[in-house]
Amino acid sequence: MDMDTRPIGVFDSGLGGLTILKTLSRTLPKEKLIYFGDTVNVPYGSKSKAAVTRFSLDIARFLQKQNVKLIVVACNTASALALPELQKKISVPVVGVILPGAMKAAQCTKNGKVAILATEATVQSKAYPRALKRLDKRICTVQRACPVLVPLIEEGWLHAKAGQYIIDDYLAPVIKSGADTVILGCTHYPVIKKRMAARLGKNVRLVDSAEVLAEEVKTRLTQTDQLNPSGRGSMKIYASDAPARFKRLAKNILGRELKRVYLKKLN
Ligand code: DGL
Repeated sequence: MDMDTRPIGVFDSGLGGLTILKTLSRTLPKEKLIYFGDTVNVPYGSKSKAAVTRFSLDIARFLQKQNVKLIVVACNTASALALPELQKKISVPVVGVILPGAMKAAQCTKNGKVAILATEATVQSKAYPRALKRLDKRICTVQRACPVLVPLIEEGWLHAKAGQYIIDDYLAPVIKSGADTVILGCTHYPVIKKRMAARLGKNVRLVDSAEVLAEEVKTRLTQTDQLNPSGRGSMKIYASDAPARFKRLAKNILGRELKRVYLKKLN
Protein backbone atom coordinates (compact mmCIF):
# COMPACT_ATOMS: atom_id res chain seq x y z
CA MET A 1 0.00 0.00 0.00
CA ASP A 2 1.22 3.50 -0.85
CA MET A 3 1.38 6.02 1.92
CA ASP A 4 1.59 9.75 2.19
CA THR A 5 3.33 10.94 5.31
CA ARG A 6 2.60 14.64 4.66
CA PRO A 7 0.50 16.40 7.30
CA ILE A 8 -3.12 17.57 7.06
CA GLY A 9 -3.55 21.34 7.51
CA VAL A 10 -6.47 22.69 9.57
CA PHE A 11 -7.36 26.31 10.31
CA ASP A 12 -9.84 28.60 12.02
CA SER A 13 -9.98 32.16 13.29
CA GLY A 14 -9.10 30.99 16.78
CA LEU A 15 -9.94 28.19 19.17
CA GLY A 16 -13.16 26.94 17.54
CA GLY A 17 -11.52 24.78 14.91
CA LEU A 18 -9.96 22.72 17.70
CA THR A 19 -13.39 21.04 18.01
CA ILE A 20 -12.79 19.78 14.45
CA LEU A 21 -9.12 18.99 15.10
CA LYS A 22 -10.07 16.81 18.06
CA THR A 23 -12.49 14.74 15.98
CA LEU A 24 -10.00 14.50 13.10
CA SER A 25 -7.30 13.17 15.40
CA ARG A 26 -9.75 10.59 16.77
CA THR A 27 -10.83 9.47 13.28
CA LEU A 28 -7.32 9.58 11.80
CA PRO A 29 -5.03 8.87 14.78
CA LYS A 30 -1.96 8.12 12.66
CA GLU A 31 -1.94 11.40 10.76
CA LYS A 32 0.20 14.45 11.43
CA LEU A 33 -2.05 17.46 11.95
CA ILE A 34 -0.99 21.09 11.65
CA TYR A 35 -3.41 23.65 13.07
CA PHE A 36 -3.42 27.41 12.57
CA GLY A 37 -5.53 29.64 14.85
CA ASP A 38 -5.71 33.17 13.47
CA THR A 39 -5.93 34.83 16.88
CA VAL A 40 -4.76 38.17 15.56
CA ASN A 41 -7.82 38.46 13.31
CA VAL A 42 -10.50 36.72 15.37
CA PRO A 43 -13.51 37.09 15.09
CA TYR A 44 -14.05 36.45 11.38
CA GLY A 45 -17.83 36.55 11.77
CA SER A 46 -18.06 40.34 11.78
CA LYS A 47 -15.56 40.87 8.93
CA SER A 48 -16.14 41.36 5.21
CA LYS A 49 -15.88 38.64 2.60
CA ALA A 50 -12.77 40.34 1.17
CA ALA A 51 -11.02 40.34 4.56
CA VAL A 52 -11.94 36.74 5.44
CA THR A 53 -10.82 35.59 1.97
CA ARG A 54 -7.49 37.37 2.40
CA PHE A 55 -6.87 35.88 5.86
CA SER A 56 -7.84 32.42 4.60
CA LEU A 57 -5.57 32.57 1.56
CA ASP A 58 -2.61 33.70 3.67
CA ILE A 59 -3.13 30.80 6.06
CA ALA A 60 -3.69 28.26 3.28
CA ARG A 61 -0.46 29.40 1.58
CA PHE A 62 1.42 29.05 4.86
CA LEU A 63 0.01 25.55 5.32
CA GLN A 64 0.96 24.67 1.78
CA LYS A 65 4.53 25.68 2.57
CA GLN A 66 4.39 23.17 5.42
CA ASN A 67 3.84 20.58 2.69
CA VAL A 68 0.30 19.57 3.67
CA LYS A 69 -1.58 17.04 1.55
CA LEU A 70 -5.04 18.49 2.24
CA ILE A 71 -6.48 21.54 4.00
CA VAL A 72 -9.54 21.52 6.24
CA VAL A 73 -11.21 24.90 6.64
CA ALA A 74 -12.37 24.29 10.24
CA CYS A 75 -14.33 27.54 10.20
CA ASN A 76 -17.87 28.00 8.92
CA THR A 77 -17.33 31.68 8.17
CA ALA A 78 -14.26 31.03 6.01
CA SER A 79 -16.00 28.03 4.39
CA ALA A 80 -19.07 30.15 3.59
CA LEU A 81 -17.11 33.13 2.27
CA ALA A 82 -13.82 31.91 0.89
CA LEU A 83 -14.00 28.20 -0.07
CA PRO A 84 -14.34 28.65 -3.88
CA GLU A 85 -11.44 31.11 -3.91
CA LEU A 86 -9.28 28.76 -1.83
CA GLN A 87 -10.11 25.82 -4.08
CA LYS A 88 -9.18 27.89 -7.10
CA LYS A 89 -5.88 29.24 -5.78
CA ILE A 90 -4.51 26.44 -3.61
CA SER A 91 -3.07 23.39 -5.30
CA VAL A 92 -3.94 20.77 -2.64
CA PRO A 93 -7.58 19.75 -1.98
CA VAL A 94 -9.44 22.15 0.36
CA VAL A 95 -12.45 20.86 2.33
CA GLY A 96 -14.98 23.07 4.14
CA VAL A 97 -17.43 22.48 6.98
CA ILE A 98 -20.74 23.72 5.55
CA LEU A 99 -21.69 20.75 3.41
CA PRO A 100 -20.88 18.11 6.06
CA GLY A 101 -23.02 20.00 8.62
CA ALA A 102 -25.89 20.39 6.17
CA MET A 103 -25.74 16.69 5.26
CA LYS A 104 -25.95 15.68 8.88
CA ALA A 105 -28.89 18.00 9.53
CA ALA A 106 -30.78 16.80 6.44
CA GLN A 107 -30.35 13.23 7.69
CA CYS A 108 -31.51 14.07 11.22
CA THR A 109 -34.59 16.23 10.71
CA LYS A 110 -37.96 14.53 10.86
CA ASN A 111 -40.24 17.56 10.64
CA GLY A 112 -38.17 19.29 7.94
CA LYS A 113 -37.49 22.36 10.09
CA VAL A 114 -33.82 23.13 10.61
CA ALA A 115 -32.43 26.06 12.58
CA ILE A 116 -28.94 27.40 12.00
CA LEU A 117 -26.90 29.20 14.65
CA ALA A 118 -23.88 30.89 13.12
CA THR A 119 -21.82 34.05 12.86
CA GLU A 120 -23.27 37.14 11.20
CA ALA A 121 -21.20 36.59 8.06
CA THR A 122 -22.24 32.95 7.71
CA VAL A 123 -25.91 33.85 8.20
CA GLN A 124 -25.70 36.62 5.61
CA SER A 125 -24.02 34.34 3.10
CA LYS A 126 -27.06 31.96 3.28
CA ALA A 127 -24.60 29.11 2.71
CA TYR A 128 -26.50 26.69 5.00
CA PRO A 129 -30.04 27.38 3.70
CA ARG A 130 -28.72 26.93 0.14
CA ALA A 131 -26.86 23.71 0.94
CA LEU A 132 -29.91 22.29 2.76
CA LYS A 133 -32.30 23.17 -0.08
CA ARG A 134 -29.96 21.46 -2.53
CA LEU A 135 -29.98 18.33 -0.38
CA ASP A 136 -33.75 18.33 0.18
CA LYS A 137 -35.97 21.08 -1.12
CA ARG A 138 -38.71 20.40 1.44
CA ILE A 139 -36.49 21.59 4.30
CA CYS A 140 -37.45 24.96 5.85
CA THR A 141 -34.75 26.93 7.62
CA VAL A 142 -34.50 29.63 10.24
CA GLN A 143 -31.18 31.35 10.92
CA ARG A 144 -29.95 33.13 14.02
CA ALA A 145 -26.71 35.10 14.11
CA CYS A 146 -24.99 34.83 17.50
CA PRO A 147 -22.20 37.43 17.37
CA VAL A 148 -21.42 37.47 21.07
CA LEU A 149 -20.77 33.74 21.44
CA VAL A 150 -17.34 33.65 19.77
CA PRO A 151 -15.82 36.40 21.97
CA LEU A 152 -17.38 34.70 25.00
CA ILE A 153 -15.77 31.38 24.11
CA GLU A 154 -12.44 32.98 23.15
CA GLU A 155 -12.45 34.71 26.55
CA GLY A 156 -13.03 31.38 28.28
CA TRP A 157 -16.02 33.01 29.96
CA LEU A 158 -18.26 30.01 29.79
CA HIS A 159 -18.95 29.66 33.46
CA ALA A 160 -20.49 33.13 33.76
CA LYS A 161 -24.19 33.61 34.39
CA ALA A 162 -24.25 36.30 31.72
CA GLY A 163 -23.34 33.58 29.22
CA GLN A 164 -26.56 31.72 29.98
CA TYR A 165 -28.68 34.84 29.43
CA ILE A 166 -27.04 35.36 26.06
CA ILE A 167 -27.53 31.73 25.06
CA ASP A 168 -31.20 31.90 26.11
CA ASP A 169 -31.73 35.03 24.07
CA TYR A 170 -30.20 33.47 20.97
CA LEU A 171 -32.17 30.26 21.38
CA ALA A 172 -35.60 31.88 21.89
CA PRO A 173 -36.46 32.22 18.16
CA VAL A 174 -35.07 28.75 17.50
CA ILE A 175 -37.40 27.25 20.11
CA LYS A 176 -40.31 29.26 18.71
CA SER A 177 -39.63 28.01 15.18
CA GLY A 178 -40.36 24.39 16.16
CA ALA A 179 -37.17 23.18 14.48
CA ASP A 180 -36.29 19.62 15.51
CA THR A 181 -32.68 20.00 14.33
CA VAL A 182 -30.28 22.80 15.12
CA ILE A 183 -26.99 23.22 13.27
CA LEU A 184 -24.08 24.57 15.29
CA GLY A 185 -22.90 26.55 12.30
CA CYS A 186 -19.76 27.87 13.94
CA THR A 187 -16.95 25.60 15.07
CA HIS A 188 -16.73 27.47 18.37
CA TYR A 189 -20.26 26.51 19.44
CA PRO A 190 -19.72 22.79 20.22
CA VAL A 191 -17.87 24.09 23.29
CA ILE A 192 -21.26 25.16 24.73
CA LYS A 193 -23.27 22.31 23.24
CA LYS A 194 -24.32 20.90 26.61
CA ARG A 195 -25.69 24.23 27.79
CA MET A 196 -27.63 24.65 24.58
CA ALA A 197 -28.94 21.09 24.68
CA ALA A 198 -30.20 21.63 28.22
CA ARG A 199 -32.27 24.59 27.02
CA LEU A 200 -33.54 23.02 23.81
CA GLY A 201 -34.70 19.77 25.42
CA LYS A 202 -34.25 16.20 24.32
CA ASN A 203 -36.54 16.38 21.28
CA VAL A 204 -34.21 18.76 19.50
CA ARG A 205 -31.10 17.37 17.85
CA LEU A 206 -27.96 19.54 17.87
CA VAL A 207 -25.63 18.80 15.00
CA ASP A 208 -22.20 19.98 13.98
CA SER A 209 -19.88 19.19 11.09
CA ALA A 210 -17.03 17.48 12.91
CA GLU A 211 -17.83 13.80 12.48
CA VAL A 212 -19.15 13.92 8.92
CA LEU A 213 -16.21 16.09 7.94
CA ALA A 214 -13.66 13.74 9.52
CA GLU A 215 -15.23 10.76 7.73
CA GLU A 216 -15.14 12.70 4.46
CA VAL A 217 -11.44 13.44 4.89
CA LYS A 218 -10.77 9.79 5.68
CA THR A 219 -12.71 8.63 2.60
CA ARG A 220 -10.91 11.08 0.31
CA LEU A 221 -7.47 10.11 1.56
CA THR A 222 -8.36 6.42 1.31
CA GLN A 223 -9.59 6.83 -2.26
CA THR A 224 -6.44 8.65 -3.32
CA ASP A 225 -4.14 6.28 -1.42
CA GLN A 226 -2.89 9.15 0.72
CA LEU A 227 -3.38 7.83 4.23
CA ASN A 228 -0.41 7.46 6.55
CA PRO A 229 -1.27 4.06 8.07
CA SER A 230 2.00 3.54 9.91
CA GLY A 231 2.39 7.12 11.17
CA ARG A 232 2.58 8.00 14.85
CA GLY A 233 0.03 10.81 14.85
CA SER A 234 0.90 14.30 16.03
CA MET A 235 -0.44 17.83 16.39
CA LYS A 236 1.53 20.99 15.73
CA ILE A 237 -0.30 24.19 16.60
CA TYR A 238 0.36 27.73 15.43
CA ALA A 239 -1.36 30.94 16.53
CA SER A 240 -0.93 34.33 14.86
CA ASP A 241 -0.93 36.08 18.26
CA ALA A 242 -0.71 35.34 22.00
CA PRO A 243 0.30 31.67 21.76
CA ALA A 244 0.59 31.19 25.53
CA ARG A 245 -3.01 32.30 26.00
CA PHE A 246 -4.10 30.04 23.15
CA LYS A 247 -2.31 27.11 24.78
CA ARG A 248 -4.06 27.74 28.10
CA LEU A 249 -7.55 27.98 26.58
CA ALA A 250 -7.00 25.12 24.12
CA LYS A 251 -6.84 22.75 27.05
CA ASN A 252 -10.56 23.33 27.73
CA ILE A 253 -11.41 22.10 24.24
CA LEU A 254 -8.84 19.39 23.62
CA GLY A 255 -9.08 18.03 27.14
CA ARG A 256 -5.32 17.88 27.45
CA GLU A 257 -2.37 20.20 27.77
CA LEU A 258 -0.51 21.05 24.56
CA LYS A 259 3.27 20.93 24.77
CA ARG A 260 3.72 24.10 22.80
CA VAL A 261 1.86 26.59 20.62
CA TYR A 262 4.10 28.32 18.06
CA LEU A 263 3.74 31.98 17.20
CA LYS A 264 3.45 32.60 13.47
CA LYS A 265 2.76 36.06 12.12
CA LEU A 266 1.67 35.98 8.52
CA ASN A 267 1.70 39.66 7.60
N1 DGL B 1 -15.22 29.35 14.32
C1 DGL B 1 -15.51 30.11 13.15
C2 DGL B 1 -16.74 29.67 12.45
O1 DGL B 1 -16.96 28.48 12.42
C3 DGL B 1 -15.26 31.59 13.21
C4 DGL B 1 -15.92 32.39 14.23
C5 DGL B 1 -15.42 33.82 14.21
O2 DGL B 1 -14.22 34.02 14.16
O3 DGL B 1 -16.27 34.73 14.19
O4 DGL B 1 -17.47 30.43 11.88
